[in-house]
Amino acid sequence: MVGNSLSRGETGLRSRTIAIGEKTFPYHFGRECVTEIGTAIAQLAPDKLVFVTDDDVLAHYGHAIDTMAGAIPSVILSHPSGESMKTLTCLSQHLETALRAGITRRSVVVSFGGGVPGNLAGLMANLLFRGVRLVHVPTTTIAAMDSVLSLKQAINSGVGKNHLGTYYAPDAVFTDVDFFTTLPERELRSGLCEMAKNCLAIQPEALDGLRAIVAGGDPAAPDSLLWLLDASIAAKSSVTRDDTFERRAGLVLEYGHTVGHAIEICDHRARGAAGLPHGTAIALGMLVAAHISHARGWLSDDEVSTHYEIVTGLGVEPALPASVRAEQVLAVVADDNKKGYLPARPDAVPFVLLRGLGRPEMSGDLPLTPVEVREIRAALDVITQPSASTPIVVG
Ligand SMILES: NC(=O)c1ccc[n+]([C@@H]2O[C@H](COP(=O)([O-])OP(=O)(O)OC[C@H]3O[C@@H](n4cnc5c(N)ncnc54)[C@H](O)[C@@H]3O)[C@@H](O)[C@H]2O)c1
Repeated sequence: MVGNSLSRGETGLRSRTIAIGEKTFPYHFGRECVTEIGTAIAQLAPDKLVFVTDDDVLAHYGHAIDTMAGAIPSVILSHPSGESMKTLTCLSQHLETALRAGITRRSVVVSFGGGVPGNLAGLMANLLFRGVRLVHVPTTTIAAMDSVLSLKQAINSGVGKNHLGTYYAPDAVFTDVDFFTTLPERELRSGLCEMAKNCLAIQPEALDGLRAIVAGGDPAAPDSLLWLLDASIAAKSSVTRDDTFERRAGLVLEYGHTVGHAIEICDHRARGAAGLPHGTAIALGMLVAAHISHARGWLSDDEVSTHYEIVTGLGVEPALPASVRAEQVLAVVADDNKKGYLPARPDAVPFVLLRGLGRPEMSGDLPLTPVEVREIRAALDVITQPSASTPIVVG
């Protein structure tokens, strides 16, 4: 990341420059700044805007789309919210609709919503005419603090999550933290769980700031959100600036994801949209990873307790949902998208494990280590037990 100090630009938006490998793009954020966002989008001189959003965001913020679009002809592509949007079918329908609406190489795709519309829009922008300009306007904490700070754009296959994707950089990211005030609490906290991941795995020095916000009881206060956004940008950028494809140092961002993704998929298969939000599932995945590290003698009791303190402080019940069985999780883990980073072993999967807070175990230059299925099972057993609301250490 470059441009390390926050500055107030003429538009009233705060700006940081994000560098991911050779790609750089500005990230502008502030409060009550939708009009400024529209002005900045107009400065890209698009002939058309293609807004990619979901029905819930549209219901809340249709007026913001009008403001951002101004006089620029716009196509609004919406779909019922949730992972069911990240499919080849939806991608194909949106692409066809955009093309039939007469978009050109001068058009700009604008993602407006959470990580789901963001990922879909990223793929669309990459595919249309082999690449049109992309602007992200994230409206969830997950998207603003995590997914837009990555070039990864992916949709799901019938086999697993994020299996079909590419890397594509936006021209700019804009957000107004006031968008987050309408987020259901579970979605807000889901984003904060990803922030917690960054603290535990990358920047433990930010843990005290996060603790203070958790203790304050109002993480949705604008000042808290601005601090969280800034801290997330700093943490995530520190591991992706030299790793465009998140295939080396950036893999540490997968902390909690091997089991977390699997829990998320299983729960969504069982409960549909009522399943755990992404970040909450990742929080459970981090607890599993912490228990495995502890069992290997790498994390101390205190460090495992810190995981529980932060995760439960963010309102996450530290237990596998009743709708999900450990066996199902293990079956999905076998298809994890980090397969292939390490020499194949039938009994093990590549995993981000910590040797201390902020200190991932490395295999060469990769923050990955093989973990045997029996180790994952033992750690899952701990969070499957109903009594898991207090830290239980496996050894
Ligand atoms: N590319 C990456 O590196 C990356 C990183 C993290 C997550 N992701 C992806 O992002 C997705 C999860 O993101 P998400 O949690 O933002 O999901 P999401 O986009 O489905 O949003 C969650 C819910 O919040 C609603 N919502 C959005 N903004 C709102 C607002 N301001 N007010 C009220 N409701 C609002 C949405 O309608 C939806 O129901 C996953 O598919 C994940 O794979 C990608």
